[in-house]
Amino acid sequence: MFTRMSRRAFLKTTALATAGLLLPRFARAEPAYDFESLPPLRKLAEAKGLFFGAAIEPELFRLNKDFSAAIKKECNLIVPENALKWRHVHPEEKKWTFRRGDALLSLAQEAGMKMRGHALVWPGALPAWVVEGVGQGRGAALLEEHIGTVLEHYRGEIFSWDVVNEALEPLHGLKDGHRRSPLFAAMGPGYIDLSFRLAAQADPKAQLVYNDFLMEADPPKAQAVLNLLRGLKDRGVPVHAVGLQAHLSTRKKLESLEWFCKGVKDLGLELLVTELDVWESVPADTDEERDRLVADKTRAFLDTIFSVMKPRQILTWGISDRNSWLSNPKANGKNKEGRLVRGLPLDEDFRRKPMWRAIYDVMAQA
Ligand code: XIL
Repeated sequence: MFTRMSRRAFLKTTALATAGLLLPRFARAEPAYDFESLPPLRKLAEAKGLFFGAAIEPELFRLNKDFSAAIKKECNLIVPENALKWRHVHPEEKKWTFRRGDALLSLAQEAGMKMRGHALVWPGALPAWVVEGVGQGRGAALLEEHIGTVLEHYRGEIFSWDVVNEALEPLHGLKDGHRRSPLFAAMGPGYIDLSFRLAAQADPKAQLVYNDFLMEADPPKAQAVLNLLRGLKDRGVPVHAVGLQAHLSTRKKLESLEWFCKGVKDLGLELLVTELDVWESVPADTDEERDRLVADKTRAFLDTIFSVMKPRQILTWGISDRNSWLSNPKANGKNKEGRLVRGLPLDEDFRRKPMWRAIYDVMAQA
């Protein structure tokens, strides 16, 4: 039985909780870790000639002081979580919106951080008008306009770009493991070559990256990505590096990681960790246990990569559990309840967790 006011308060509370803004603090003891006296990841990265960074949204950076303080303290690199995706930057044929990307770039420059770009061509982030245009045979022209305009806008400012994101999905059953998408349907695999060639023309100095997920834990996917990269190299397509998104899961074994990294090295390409976080898929009773599982997976993942080749850029997808896409039911369909995950380096109060320590240790030993 609710009174009018308490019912409204209840609904508000529920809405905030669903949006991940109110956190379930009841019935759990906060784990206490003693990592605060260690130097920030940013300092360590700089000493090692590496980049540590995180994906961020400009609004969070501007409006949340704890968030921006944590980013400036721990990171010497940022990447826009969404602001530079095609759907965001060019939502309608006559509408370009660089405002949010530009805001991030200024914030990065003011704080002495670098910015990388994500993602020029992602079949999963095409606006409806582009899907339509691609279907009408205008794919090549649209790629040329999009890649040319975005790279020209940020030339000399953004040093590394995810040119093509998530082009492969062996589960779709297409030849060579290609992902079913409007671009593939209209242009075949050639849209990938073309995207890289256009990017190199528009910004000859940028590092051009192929970015995808699950190569660490899925042999068919890892093999398909290596085959794609070999083909690109054989055809003289300008690709420089491969990004392991690294949306890890506590349950999945890293069964294809080592040979995938070796394959990338043999092709003469660089490796990046572009979107690291850990999905908790093994039940655990306490937060300490959850943190241990997340940290162990992170450590094993980074150790294996570093044993083959030093990734110069390591980025987590967000910095604090408070703002993780893994906790957001809208952004991540796997988490239907919107429960708070613990898959990022800092907890919801921006305190360092064992995952932070795992990244610290692996970088310190590099
Ligand atoms: C996600 C963002 O985190 C969400 O906010 C958005 O709703 C969907 O996209 N692989 C990628 C990223 O390359 O761009 C995705 O980011 C996460 C998976």
